[in-house]
Amino acid sequence: MRRAFVHGLMATAMVFSAASAAFAAAPSAMPANKTAAQDDWWKHAVIYELYPRSFADSNNDGIGDLKGITNHLGYLADLGVDAIWMTPMFPSPQVDFGYDVADYDNVDPQFGTIADADALIAKGKGQNVKIILDFVINHSSDKHAWFQQSKSSKTNPYRDFYIWRDGKNGGPPNNWTSLFGGSAWEKDPTTGQYYYHFFYAQQPDLNWRNPALEKAMFDQAEWWLKRGVYGYRLDAVGTMFEREDLKDNPPAPGTDAFGLPEQNRINNTEQPEMHTELQKLRQNVIDKYPGRILIGETYVSTAPELTKFYGAKNDELQLPMYLSLIGLKPITAADLRPRIEAVENNPVGGWPCFALNNHDQRRSTSRYDLPAGTTGDDMARIMAAMILTLRGTPILYYGEELGMLNNDPKRVEDVQDIIGKKGWPKEKGRDGERTPMQWDASVNAGFNTGAKPWLPIGPDYQTRNVAAERADPNSVLNYYRTLIAERRTNPALAGDMTMVDRSNPNVLSYVRTGGGKKLLTVLNFGGTASDLTLAQLGGGKIGRVIVQNRTTVTANGLHLAPLGAIVAEIN
Ligand code: NOJ
Ligand code: CA
Repeated sequence: MRRAFVHGLMATAMVFSAASAAFAAAPSAMPANKTAAQDDWWKHAVIYELYPRSFADSNNDGIGDLKGITNHLGYLADLGVDAIWMTPMFPSPQVDFGYDVADYDNVDPQFGTIADADALIAKGKGQNVKIILDFVINHSSDKHAWFQQSKSSKTNPYRDFYIWRDGKNGGPPNNWTSLFGGSAWEKDPTTGQYYYHFFYAQQPDLNWRNPALEKAMFDQAEWWLKRGVYGYRLDAVGTMFEREDLKDNPPAPGTDAFGLPEQNRINNTEQPEMHTELQKLRQNVIDKYPGRILIGETYVSTAPELTKFYGAKNDELQLPMYLSLIGLKPITAADLRPRIEAVENNPVGGWPCFALNNHDQRRSTSRYDLPAGTTGDDMARIMAAMILTLRGTPILYYGEELGMLNNDPKRVEDVQDIIGKKGWPKEKGRDGERTPMQWDASVNAGFNTGAKPWLPIGPDYQTRNVAAERADPNSVLNYYRTLIAERRTNPALAGDMTMVDRSNPNVLSYVRTGGGKKLLTVLNFGGTASDLTLAQLGGGKIGRVIVQNRTTVTANGLHLAPLGAIVAEIN
């Protein structure tokens, strides 16, 4: 089921971590390499996705909130984060934990107030941490005033804000199924018509073919831009439009987690009209405010499909996230290389954007079968070495920098995420990757000091937490800090990228070059150790080592144990 988010896919001597050396030189909030045009700040940024419910709970009600985030901005600035993308904190019945928005121009009381949002934006400005919000473009909550109006009669002026149709042969208008289970159509008794919902029935799809809806949505987007947010992560971009003639989807093999036959969603996803709409959003709203950006939740399988989201004239999304690396299981160098290269070399010159974790996917530390002798921490390190040295903008997910693990529900009665209740046990939902941030070893991991957190704290919190990892030079956190600091100061990491040792099925290697510097990244995703010569890796000599894990520098090359990773200067 989780793959359905991906539409169409869907130890040897000298092993040490160089993190300690760079710890002392950890960056201040102002990046050294912000010499590029201010409007391009996002090309040199580290973006951090944060799930407000789970980050920090300032008022001890068990649910994270905006003040909690504001209280921890110093941590983010110190980590080297340039911008946070917050998942929705707007008023919402929370059926889909905020992705069912009831009012865009406000803050849900459980997360705080508009004043709290303004304070977060202002404090972020002071600390050089920009705030990016989530814009749920495909649907609203069924409790949104627009939908309440829309459902009240066929002639209500808001009727066409949503997609209403008559049923067919005593059933729904067509065979489309919801990604979250059951038919994608819900019959509403007031008018006897059906409304369309790609996700839950409580998330009716908005009708972007209606100019009045378009204007209303653009106005909402502008409202927050005026308050100082730096743009949006657009939710579920590919579901924005569906075929107007409602053509049935063809069947696909198998059954979904909710018991219905799978289908190939070619008629209600990835419709060409969305590109025109994204161009309008970019030109009419975003570009009016300097430096503002659009990030896309763009689940596509191939780079050519992703390329479309930059726009033929680079006039759509600045950062369509390439999320397909998440779907690789097992993860191999042979699978990673062509995918990364295809994104790097996209024909419109769009800037790559990678994410390896998010609130809908198992954390990478818990996602794969680990080679014998390795741990989730080794997986965290190899992933960090990759995402923080690829050419492009990385989007990290809170807790990733600690090597946090999934903490999956063990019993259906403990599940919070409704898809986990509906799909149990095949689909356990997304609670496991959304557990509270682990700040310290105190009760509730420093998330709060009061009510039971909305999801259980990871059992490893007494050792895996910010305080403990800050103090440990070999921690995953310091590995991240070191790499992020290097991104800010080393011009090679703002320069070109070339894959080397290209036919190696197990080890992914590439060289970054810029400002007279060269940086080599070597990552052993294979299940066995690998010995590589420097000639094989493009030549030169290993110089300063930035980070190193399960790797030895040998007389004429490198020895990498499984999940071994190294980032080093080449002289
Ligand atoms: C994608 C979001 O990331 C996910 O959490 C949500 O459930 C769906 N879109 C529906 O909004
Ligand atoms: Ca709270």
